[in-house]
Amino acid sequence: MSQVASQVIPLFPTPVMRVEKLLDAETVAMVTDEVTGSANLANAFSDHLSHTPVAGVGANDAFARLGTLVMPHVTAFGEVLFGEALAWQIKEIWVNVLEPGGRQAIHTHANSFISGVVYLTDAHPSANIIFHKALGGAGFIFGNSNPNARVNAFNGGKWMMPQTSAGDLVMFPSYLLHEVPPNHGERRISIAFNAIPDRLDNHGYAVRFS
Ligand SMILES: [Fe+2]
Repeated sequence: MSQVASQVIPLFPTPVMRVEKLLDAETVAMVTDEVTGSANLANAFSDHLSHTPVAGVGANDAFARLGTLVMPHVTAFGEVLFGEALAWQIKEIWVNVLEPGGRQAIHTHANSFISGVVYLTDAHPSANIIFHKALGGAGFIFGNSNPNARVNAFNGGKWMMPQTSAGDLVMFPSYLLHEVPPNHGERRISIAFNAIPDRLDNHGYAVRFS
């Protein structure tokens, strides 16, 4: 046996931020009261999933309150992503109502940098959000998923968020593929948002967003 120490260096990890109990029970109840009943847009992939129209945080008091609570964490997560405390805004915000049996198909969020979800109900363990690595392109893919193979951060292809509860916030880079598997629990209500910084500056080559 070699006595030489080896080291595995986890290069380029993907950040996902969870803020537990960002909303207290009173705020959850207030926001839920204001937004339930308004989710009337059918989802293209599931009859048991509906949404509100995409809006800005100025659309109603509930969204405004959420925007205020979420923003410091968006800024902190943005600093993880881009190394600087940038000026962020929530570009879109909407409600998702996932009835029993409903699911959300795998997707990403275009034209955005940080996406987040605030939970107004506990998520049943069957319907925790799942993040995926890239699904592959047009070429062959080799894998070694079998009962003898131990999944780790390097060979795993997807990761399920541990239990999320009412009031929790989860944020992730908008490019990251995610889905919600079929909900075997009660009605699951969440509010999703997309956030953008005012500008990104790469060695003087800057772009502005609005
Ligand atoms: Fe999403």
